[in-house]
Amino acid sequence: MTTDTSAAAPAAAPGAPAVDLFSQEFAADPFPVHDRLRRSAPVHHDPVTRLWLVSRDEDIRQVLREPSTYRNDNALGSVLPLRLPALRILDRAGFKTLPPALFNNSGDTHPVLRGPVLKLFGAQRVRAALPMIERVTHEELDLMAAGLDATGRHDFARGPARTIPVRVMLEMLGVPEAARADIATIADWTDAFITLFWGRTDKDEQRRLAQLVGEFYIWLCDLAARPDAPDDSLLGALARVRMPDGSPVPPEVAVAVCSNLMVAGHVTTSQMISTAAYRALEHTGRWRALGREPGLAEAWTEETLRREPSLTAWRRVTSRPVTLGGVDLPEGAELLLLFTAAGTDPEAFEEPERICPMREGGRAHLGFGLGRHRCPGAELARAEGRVVLAAASERFPDLRLATEERPPFLELVSFRAPTRLEVEHAPRPAEPRRSPPQ
Ligand code: HEM
Repeated sequence: MTTDTSAAAPAAAPGAPAVDLFSQEFAADPFPVHDRLRRSAPVHHDPVTRLWLVSRDEDIRQVLREPSTYRNDNALGSVLPLRLPALRILDRAGFKTLPPALFNNSGDTHPVLRGPVLKLFGAQRVRAALPMIERVTHEELDLMAAGLDATGRHDFARGPARTIPVRVMLEMLGVPEAARADIATIADWTDAFITLFWGRTDKDEQRRLAQLVGEFYIWLCDLAARPDAPDDSLLGALARVRMPDGSPVPPEVAVAVCSNLMVAGHVTTSQMISTAAYRALEHTGRWRALGREPGLAEAWTEETLRREPSLTAWRRVTSRPVTLGGVDLPEGAELLLLFTAAGTDPEAFEEPERICPMREGGRAHLGFGLGRHRCPGAELARAEGRVVLAAASERFPDLRLATEERPPFLELVSFRAPTRLEVEHAPRPAEPRRSPPQ
């Protein structure tokens, strides 16, 4: 999972904006940097990651519309090279590299593998899954209520925002029997996965994370090898798929598809719910309104996806020399498409930094990508966002942030969300004093 960083790496242009993609400063407030990039260097070479940062909505759309020129082969490599001890641990778990499946597949097997995923997560299946999503949501909110009663505080990001999408994903994949203890373990594994491959970590941290990723990989292999997968489950569907040469899907490819879905299918949704809840909780009235105003939870989710998408940026690599945004790029140039910058591009959205859930054309963002690789889980993520936000606001209308400090944000190149969101009940206003009877 190391990235080949040998492709063209010119020195940063003089006067180009300095960006530390891994800093807390950038993670917590990326908007000023995006603004500078769009204005002064819309296709900017970052010397640390050796990625070309693409920040204008128009340029990103162009890239996504030309998947043969801008391939996704590099999407899952580690953004920074991993050290040997971590690579050895991954190797011992049998995890060398993920073969092309969905996120990293520009070849002719992509449509074959994408077909069953589109079917499994299509609008009809998501509609049918709504009762399950509501049930899981209320069960997890019961636990949150118990936590609030017991200690007066609860971490919304590590609580319902984290557990609901894992449980929903397991149900959708046809493995709902995972015990409660497994939910936290799976979430820890996938957190480790994104931190190892999209973060800046030292040798010891890499070792710890690689251990967890290795365990995750072994679990995925067991999952993909289940002999009893129901016909209408993803694994059942994959068993019927034939590759372009007529052969069945190789086991390691089935593992890669499961890995793509387990990581993409809940990590991003958890992050979206945390970010959406945080922005709503910044103002008591907004939070309360989510459970009261019809359609608001849905629109709030959409506006979060535009302004602060959880998948903040994604990679591509050029298959030939091209000119993008006026910059000449060689073959093999690795790009980072900054979806957050696109969502706040004033050329694409009016007053883009303002949170305006009912804005016209609010769905025309790139939070779910575009074209051949557009997110097949978009409808599921939207459904989870609206159900969880509305239900949480209805059940806890007086919820507020427990501290005025800004929560810490994930410091990863492609993922962003508050990692902690301590909440509590607002104190009830004091009863007006009654004058004693005369
Ligand atoms: C808020 C939640 C989500 C966000 C922000 C999100 C975002 C995205 C984006 C931007 C892409 C396009 C990547 C590209 O162009 O290469 C994508 C692709 C993908 N997403 Fe999602 N996603 C979310 C939820 C989900 C869910 C719930 C699933 C589960 C089915 C899922 C599965 C996938 C898969 C498998 C792909 C790769 C598709 C392909 O390459 O053909 N995502 N997602």
